[in-house]
Amino acid sequence: MPTLAELEADASACVRCPLAAGRTQVVFGVGNPDADVMFVGEGPGAEEDKQGKPFVGRSGQLLDRLVLQEMGLTRNDCYIGNVVCCRPPGNRDPLPAEIEACRPWLEGKLDLIDPKVVVTLGNFASKLLLDTTTGITKLRGRTYPYRSGVLIPTFHPAAVLRGGAEPEAQMRADLVRAKLALEQLRAAAPA
Ligand code: URA
Repeated sequence: MPTLAELEADASACVRCPLAAGRTQVVFGVGNPDADVMFVGEGPGAEEDKQGKPFVGRSGQLLDRLVLQEMGLTRNDCYIGNVVCCRPPGNRDPLPAEIEACRPWLEGKLDLIDPKVVVTLGNFASKLLLDTTTGITKLRGRTYPYRSGVLIPTFHPAAVLRGGAEPEAQMRADLVRAKLALEQLRAAAPA
């Protein structure tokens, strides 16, 4: 198996889908390669495309704040990636073919990081990794077995920014669920 840094170097030259043509850079992911918690968003926006890092805009600031307040974790304690690594033009939704083309990079990250808890942010990541057509509003609020641990779907922070107090409270509850799941999994299998 390659290291995460080697996988990232390979991904930086990726031309597996048409998003490659419009990107400034590949936004592979950031954080701790040994993290127990991995967040998966949708895809880079304009600021992420510029900086080469996921969730650096307004959504990211909200994500950082809620994760710190509810889970006590900073970016260095977790890993953050996206369903697609390149910015869809005009921030449109990623297309099914783009998601499939990018999937090996995401699966590679999951293989190498092997997080105990995966938190999917919004419809795209939740549907993809749970292999379902059910939407996030129905999926969230539960813990799903996933790989060697669990998956906890929650709202995308952009939806919380739009939606206000209720989705924020629900996202906070999901993050608390993720924290408790992490504590249980760590107690069952200490590092
Ligand atoms: N939204 C996402 O889904 N991912 C990012 O990296 C930024 C905004």
